Amino acid sequence: MQPTKRTILRARPYFSDEDIADALTRIDQSLRTGQLLMGPAVEEFEIIFAQTVGVKYAIAVSSGTAALEIALRCIGIEDREIIVPTETFVASANSVLLAGGLPVFAEIHPDTLCLDLADVVRRIGPKTAGVMAVHMAGLIQPDIEALLQVCQRHGLFLIEDAAHAHGAEIKGRKAGSLGKAGCFSFYPTKLMTTGEGGMITTDDADLAELARSYRNHGAAAHGSEYVRVSTNWRLPEISAILGLVQLRHLEGFVERRNQIAVQYDQALAVTSGIRPLFDHLEFDTRHSYWNYLAVLDEDIDRVELARLLRDEYAIPIAWPYDPPCHLQPVFRDALGCQPGELPQSEHALRHHIALPMHVVLSDDDVSYIVAGLRATLPRARTA
Ligand SMILES: Cc1ncc(COP(=O)(O)O)c(C=O)c1O
Repeated sequence: MQPTKRTILRARPYFSDEDIADALTRIDQSLRTGQLLMGPAVEEFEIIFAQTVGVKYAIAVSSGTAALEIALRCIGIEDREIIVPTETFVASANSVLLAGGLPVFAEIHPDTLCLDLADVVRRIGPKTAGVMAVHMAGLIQPDIEALLQVCQRHGLFLIEDAAHAHGAEIKGRKAGSLGKAGCFSFYPTKLMTTGEGGMITTDDADLAELARSYRNHGAAAHGSEYVRVSTNWRLPEISAILGLVQLRHLEGFVERRNQIAVQYDQALAVTSGIRPLFDHLEFDTRHSYWNYLAVLDEDIDRVELARLLRDEYAIPIAWPYDPPCHLQPVFRDALGCQPGELPQSEHALRHHIALPMHVVLSDDDVSYIVAGLRATLPRARTA
């Protein structure tokens, strides 16, 4: 018998009743004092976020994309190349171009969908200034130490696009504390949200000071002068208030996502046609599980599977990010990228899917999703 259809969202933010009440109280204060920008909530959010990541400085900005562009501007990448995994949201590569540099797309490793270290090494040239590691779906690539050593050997910086990785960890070090700067997004589907917003994390005092200037029209650190061309990348107080209530649950959110991932892992291990991208115990890292990625058998039609799941079970699935960056029209035009240039990534991304993942999913919802998969997978086979 088919289970009763229920509405499953693929991703969503969560605010408890208590959090909503707390946020509204603080927003009320902010509205009454009239301090809507650059006030105590932004300052507190930055201090607690920096402590959470284990860095000296955190600079709140208007989006994850702004965080990346500002960090790259602070480092200075004019006319230099930055190695970026092709498997990421376009914002990672756009930020390089917007900061005056050139993204060079590299292969991802099929086992992690993060940068392939060997391919990074192959792409280092005289114009390379740095490498952007994207912690795909919330996984810090297990060989990040080796990547850092390669960067050090070649005099390159490492910047972390940690948009998916709030709370992710490797050997006791948090995402956002591993390179020259970490860049987070607080978009509503992320591990924690401020509506729109972003954060730069760093141990570098000069970079932090420069980032504060860039986010505020190029203002000098002291006095009323403007000392560089920039724009408005500030985070409003109301957004920071939302960030503060979300931040106190980050650990719990990551924990719950890991529990859901274990439930998926166990169920997929005995489901034919699909497997987890990796065994979550295989790597000595703490995944944040922004997304739960699974791999389909090659003869499963992903589009047909998505249609069956949506129409019959109201279960949404997706495949972030296929097409990968080098095959997006914007970069094909701007950079002359061609299909077949990154064959390992193109192949790896043909068969992966992201299952629903957020903290509002109950164990029963996960069982329902697995039941939906088991019922539809055999019918989505092409052979
Ligand atoms: C990997 C990655 N980088 C950067 C961003 C940009 O973040 P924002 O949407 O906050 O600008 C995103 C957002 O989805 C992302 O997934």
